[in-house]
Amino acid sequence: MIRSQDELHAPYGGVVPEIAARAHLQSLIPVIERALATADSTWDQIDALAVTRGPGLIGALLVGVNMAQSIGLARGLPVIGVSHLAGHLYAAKLEEPGLRPPALALIVSGGHSDLVRWEEHGAIEVVGRTRDDAAGEAFDKGARILGLPFPGGPAIDRLAEGGDPRSFAFPRPRAPGLDFSFSGVKTSLLYQVRKLGDLTDQQRADLAASYQEAIVDALLQRVEASLAAEPVPTVILGGGVARNRRLRKAAAERLGARVHLIVPAPDLCTDNAAMIGAAALEQWERKGPDLAPFDADPGLGFS
Ligand code: KG4
Ligand code: ZN
Repeated sequence: MIRSQDELHAPYGGVVPEIAARAHLQSLIPVIERALATADSTWDQIDALAVTRGPGLIGALLVGVNMAQSIGLARGLPVIGVSHLAGHLYAAKLEEPGLRPPALALIVSGGHSDLVRWEEHGAIEVVGRTRDDAAGEAFDKGARILGLPFPGGPAIDRLAEGGDPRSFAFPRPRAPGLDFSFSGVKTSLLYQVRKLGDLTDQQRADLAASYQEAIVDALLQRVEASLAAEPVPTVILGGGVARNRRLRKAAAERLGARVHLIVPAPDLCTDNAAMIGAAALEQWERKGPDLAPFDADPGLGFS
């Protein structure tokens, strides 16, 4: 089960850190109780706890880590602290339990746009990252410019369905090497909207489709460039933006014949606890649980 806070943040057009932390505090115990009930399980059947220890907003992370360590102490259970980003990567293992590295993964969310080489368990190297906005942020900010509600990614995805992606020529967001940059395409959308003035429904849909196409094209271009330089047999997409229908379709068209492409089910792409469990399981098998209490780390990388 997934408990979303989107409705609480929507009136503000983005995530408000203090609201996020307080909502975590209010939701965690009811969510844990409901998850146990839904799985028809009791605490006696639980062997270990997994929790996200970073990266992210410190308030929300502290609530989660504190809760997991408290329950661990009270019930005598080991606690495994994992990276949220590793979680997005390991969501692919829920889709394909036999999945093994090496693979190239594109992890695109509201806070990150990372192209990573997954060499072996425990060895994840970032080969490309964003120089400015994350891909999800580009969707969210673009949606705001188009007058669409938060979160913007799903809103653009829906609106783009009725639009023509070739109607506006947005620049392909590029940065040196395998890095990404999305601020240029966002500014270009802003200028286009200002120039057009009052938008018709069709213009809005065409803008959404063209903007989405520019982001998707830039993402896949980097994946292709990395594959050309260093081929790998498997490519994984992950993170909330991997839920985007155009990205999923274009990835299958452009990469599907060359590599084994894994795009987890939509609910495993946006934030969820199952992916944290999957990352924790791998970490536990490799290193054992974190026996000493560990800290939340807002700047944590993939491990
Ligand atoms: O991974 P995630 O659920 O949370 C973070 O770790 O940030 O990703 C959330 C991001 C948001 O920016 C949201 O707009 C974007 O994923 N997103 C989408 C779609 N669904 C969610 N972006 C494009 N198309 C979608 N269908
Ligand atoms: Zn995420």
